[in-house]
Amino acid sequence: MFNFGVDYYPEQWPSDRWAIDARLMAEAGFNVVRLAEFAWAKMEPSNGHFDFSWLDEAISVLSAHDIHVILGTPTASPPAWLMAQYPDAFRVRGDGVRVTYGNRREYCPNNPAYQEHSRRIVEAMADHYASHSAIIGWQIDNEFGERCYCPVCLKAFQDWLGQRYDSLDSLNDKWGTTFWSHNYANWSEIPSPATTGHSPNPALALDYYRFCSDSYVAYQQIQIDILRDKCPQHFITHNLMGFGYDKINYFDLVQNLDFVSWDNYRRMQWTFQTHVDPARAALDADTMRGLKGKNFWVMEQQAGSGGWEVVSVAPRPGELRLWAYQSIAHGADGILFFRWRTARYGTEQYWHGLLDHDATPGRRYQEIKQMGAELKAIGDKILGSTVKPPVAMLLSYDSRFAFEVQANNPDLHYSNYFYQIYRGLHDLNVSVDVIAPTDDLSAYKLVVAPLLHIVTPQIAANLESFVKNGGTLLTGLRSGVKDEDNAVVNTRLPGLLSSIVGIQVEEYDSLTPDMGRALQFVLPELEGCIGNAAVWCDILAPIQAETVAVYTSNYYAGKPAITQNRYGNGRAIYVGTVGDGNLYASLLPWLLHNSGVNEGFPALGLEITERWQGDKRLLFILNHTEMPQEIKLETLAMDLFNDLENDSNSLLIQPRDVRILEI
Ligand code: GAL
Repeated sequence: MFNFGVDYYPEQWPSDRWAIDARLMAEAGFNVVRLAEFAWAKMEPSNGHFDFSWLDEAISVLSAHDIHVILGTPTASPPAWLMAQYPDAFRVRGDGVRVTYGNRREYCPNNPAYQEHSRRIVEAMADHYASHSAIIGWQIDNEFGERCYCPVCLKAFQDWLGQRYDSLDSLNDKWGTTFWSHNYANWSEIPSPATTGHSPNPALALDYYRFCSDSYVAYQQIQIDILRDKCPQHFITHNLMGFGYDKINYFDLVQNLDFVSWDNYRRMQWTFQTHVDPARAALDADTMRGLKGKNFWVMEQQAGSGGWEVVSVAPRPGELRLWAYQSIAHGADGILFFRWRTARYGTEQYWHGLLDHDATPGRRYQEIKQMGAELKAIGDKILGSTVKPPVAMLLSYDSRFAFEVQANNPDLHYSNYFYQIYRGLHDLNVSVDVIAPTDDLSAYKLVVAPLLHIVTPQIAANLESFVKNGGTLLTGLRSGVKDEDNAVVNTRLPGLLSSIVGIQVEEYDSLTPDMGRALQFVLPELEGCIGNAAVWCDILAPIQAETVAVYTSNYYAGKPAITQNRYGNGRAIYVGTVGDGNLYASLLPWLLHNSGVNEGFPALGLEITERWQGDKRLLFILNHTEMPQEIKLETLAMDLFNDLENDSNSLLIQPRDVRILEI
């Protein structure tokens, strides 16, 4: 049974409405709900007094319709009585302001009193629900994030450094504290990077960001330990925020979870625009799948207009279903819509659920009900099937944090550049895993390592053996610049990657927007290709590599900008400039061809992905446009929605529609 459901907040509605809600959910094909994630005050109305009676009743109403329950631990939104008792538990922002009560995520994850109260509510819930037959799993907290700069964190940071470095001497050495006389004689002298005026030592700042990430990982572990102990038969997950969230090392965060779940919103108040870019959602999904190398759930799939202060453009007819199928096409084994009914009160009054404020089932409900019926029929064929991309992109949180400390160029953005390359692959319908630089690369033909700023010997060895064994590596500017401690390497760039890419960076130039000029492709295979240099230019001195393209302007006109090196049985391509969309439209087909990756179907407006169930291939064809799109297939295939073999290999996909074919 495909896991299909909704996030439900029964505590926000009169209990005599619950039975109607449960019936409507069941009629929509829902078999799972997430409950209780913000209901701490209802479950512990005063210190140490727990009341689960209302939740028991809601669960039994839902169970009567065979709806399973995921319980959220409520620690993202503490009760007012708790925070009033521990004013030190409020998080301190980077600008020094201690937040007050009145939103959510206002707590410091290192605060001992907050940790203790978190333990108590999670233990109480786990004791109460461990053997309840309706409960299948847990979501811990909600969307971990936000760095804290309070005194408790500073002390915890100093202790964390004590664990990380053998001694203060070693820290002083690795951080280069001789610069500006920063040598520390005592751990307690080490400051937080938020209070140094401006521009702290990059080593200090990077370590603080790592520490903040580790703080949430450790805080989450407190809850995992309790739940593993008391509820061994339940799964444990957390809802993450896709590729875009950059303050936590998600690879670390998910390590002890059973699977990743995440929140998928495409129309939000913050991205107030008409056009929705399917490549962004695809990148989110591919990142979430890559974190554990396995299928994920979408714990919050958009159900209506997003909006806190401003209401987003309404999801157009067909979009909710299309986006939910897109999640499935990229590896979702569970979809829950956020939220069931639009709240009448609170910050999220305009964050629309499947039902509007008045609870009348309307257009959005009907659309998802159709999907529920479809999944009832075909969900089992999809569940557990896997995505097997030939291409990996390496996501380095260390490098991302390092660029947050030092942008290098005002227009150099780790996420944007990563997306630029991903987008080029997505346009060609080539499927991608987003994984860590230390992950096993042997399953891939092409590995892309954008802005791999921090390179450890372990990462370099991983890339080297991948290329030696016949893989193709694409990397480039600002890679291999830093060591693990955010110090610049003392060899020619790209440092530990030099021998793999067969070049040295002779010099570099950081460009203003008006300085970019055309590149000239000199490799005969790429003759006539176009692309511009932009943002940054590494001026390359080939050692072993051949030149692919040269600059045409500035004092380095004629010097190599892009190179290719044959290394072992593989090859490594170095791109010294950020470039524009044209550059990757030129380079990627060539790279894919040379690395033995079949280009997907580059069908404009159609996204095409595959999941594999044994040796059966499920082809998802998604039309993200407002026009019907035609596609020609190589073979006849079974159309799962009609349970019919197509009688021709030409297929017409209606606007915002999806087809799933079994081949
Ligand atoms: C998510 C969050 C939900 C809800 C939603 C809409 O980020 O997990 O609780 O706030 O956004 O704003």
